Amino acid sequence: MVVLIGGARGITPWFARALASATGCRIELVGRTPLPTGPQDPELAAATDRAALVGVLARRGSSSPAEISRTAQAILAAREVTATIAELTELGGEVRYHALDVRDTAATSSLLAGIHAEYGRLDGVVYAAGIIEDKLIAEKDPASFTRVFDTKVDGARGLLAGLDALPTAPRFLVFFGSIAAAYGNRGQADYAAANDALDAIGTRYAARTGVRCVTVHWGPWAPGVGHGGMVTAELSREYARRGIGLIDPEEGALALLRELAWADPSVTSVVYTASGW
Ligand SMILES: NC(=O)c1ccc[n+]([C@@H]2O[C@H](COP(=O)([O-])OP(=O)(O)OC[C@H]3O[C@@H](n4cnc5c(N)ncnc54)[C@H](OP(=O)(O)O)[C@@H]3O)[C@@H](O)[C@H]2O)c1
Repeated sequence: MVVLIGGARGITPWFARALASATGCRIELVGRTPLPTGPQDPELAAATDRAALVGVLARRGSSSPAEISRTAQAILAAREVTATIAELTELGGEVRYHALDVRDTAATSSLLAGIHAEYGRLDGVVYAAGIIEDKLIAEKDPASFTRVFDTKVDGARGLLAGLDALPTAPRFLVFFGSIAAAYGNRGQADYAAANDALDAIGTRYAARTGVRCVTVHWGPWAPGVGHGGMVTAELSREYARRGIGLIDPEEGALALLRELAWADPSVTSVVYTASGW
């Protein structure tokens, strides 16, 4: 059974799918997005993309543009989580979703303890939670730096504290890092620092516990259908202009499976990227 924190949205569902197909393992997904409860609003349900949702919400007229945008984003996020659960279930796997903010250390520890108590073990953990709020450092609000940095670093520290408290350690741990940690990236000082720190935290954890732990510093992934991730269509065009290739989501997921299956287990950080860096 594998816990994937940040696994229900973005690029990580591609890996969850590859893992479920290859191993049939139970999947426990974690993210902040709450799952929808109660009957769906039919008009919103019929609005299938962001523009249509914003249109419906704007016609109702009671919210500010910022509130409309947040509501549309929340609906799309919940739909993506629901789609991930459906896709994994269709593959025959057992899947559950837990809504929590991984920066809440007590909630993370309690979730891990509950899963471990239920199954008597925890085979693997994938830590992929992350956010970006890109800006040049001179223009960056310190609170924004903290949000980006803490999501990776405090989240990972809380996760490791939770793992330390379990009766048995997991067999492997994967951190989703970024090529920004290896080469830097304009506007991403906070994100690059966070991913570099993540790598160091993982390396120390492996040395201290003997658990296989690898940080994968990914180059940009192509936005796949249904699970786009951080690379928007606009960013994709910018990467293309700079001659930077994008990782095919299915290939990326398989590359990580191969890394876990065949690579040297003492290696604690790797860079995976397409052409152009
Ligand atoms: N996409 C790429 O090309 C790329 C390249 C290099 C590295 N990465 C790394 O890969 C990981 C996933 O990126 P992505 O592109 O899939 O981004 P994304 O679409 O923004 O997904 C981020 C994931 O993290 C979760 N998350 C964020 N903050 C969280 C928190 N405080 N607690 C729990 N879950 C949280 C999100 O779920 P909720 O919003 O529901 O919380 C979501 O599942 C990140 O760590 C990123 O640094 C991605």
